[in-house]
Amino acid sequence: MMKRTLLIAAAVLGLSAPAIASEGSTPPQLKWSFSGPFGKFDEAQLQRGFKVYREVCSSCHSLNYVAFRNLAQPGGPGFSEAQVRALAAEYKVQDGPNEAGDMFERAGRPADHFPAPFPNENAAAAANGGKAPPDLSLMPKARTYERGFPWFIFDIFTQFAETGPDYVVAVLNGYHEAPAGFSVPAGGHYNTSFPGNVIAMPKPLSDGQVEYPKGPDGKSPVPETVDQYARDVTAFLMWTAEPHLDARKRIGFQVMLFLLVLSGLLYFTKKKIWARVEH
Ligand code: HEC
Repeated sequence: MMKRTLLIAAAVLGLSAPAIASEGSTPPQLKWSFSGPFGKFDEAQLQRGFKVYREVCSSCHSLNYVAFRNLAQPGGPGFSEAQVRALAAEYKVQDGPNEAGDMFERAGRPADHFPAPFPNENAAAAANGGKAPPDLSLMPKARTYERGFPWFIFDIFTQFAETGPDYVVAVLNGYHEAPAGFSVPAGGHYNTSFPGNVIAMPKPLSDGQVEYPKGPDGKSPVPETVDQYARDVTAFLMWTAEPHLDARKRIGFQVMLFLLVLSGLLYFTKKKIWARVEH
């Protein structure tokens, strides 16, 4: 009996362990447009981040929980319905079976989800040295790291909740020469922020790799560097993980305001009612 309880406890701990990246170096704390009680996604950043996902990450990582039409929904990257229709049509999706019982390919429609780069997890793992690239739809919310004492107490008051996005950026920025004496196994890559320091993902980003939309002066308003790509794609993935973040924060604030006004009214009501009672 005792042994079984221990086994279950170990299994539970074991399941939650891979999500905590405590063995890598602590990711630097970044500024995010969506942090804090009034945080909002930055539309231009989400569009850039989507471009990075599409041109770089999508060759290995799926985005299973996102449909093309989500890109036009309020609080997101702000694509128009027509843009979404055109974008979806550039993809081939599998449909069927038809009357003959065969699966067939057709052009994507706004209601389709992003097609995955590999037909199944085994194929994904086989093409990537034995480790399947995980789905990215929920990634910045699925990863975190331990901030430790006393930070986890301050974080409650400052409403700091961006350990996930900070970690994802740190992993994308974390490729360096392995220190002397550290042997990197075949198919692995040295990464200072990934737990254990060996990651199966080859360095996906390099400076100048993705072309950003140009401003009126013919230059991109933000640098085309690994760090900027990492921040933008992570902001985009934060949006896919929590598409209603803007609304959640706005309604939360309205509710707090409402409760404050209600408390005031209740206080004066109480005073009025009890004023008639002899003390
Ligand atoms: C060549 C294929 C490939 C490309 C391109 C690629 N990845 Fe990966 N990625 C992988 C593999 C394989 C893993 C699994 C690594 C492991 O578990 O060791 C992974 C893992 C990850 C993880 C999870 C790390 C963790 O803590 O488990 C994140 C986040 C990630 N990739 C983000 C990205 C982003 C963002 C891009 C685009 C900029 C990208 N990847 C491009 C193959 C790729």
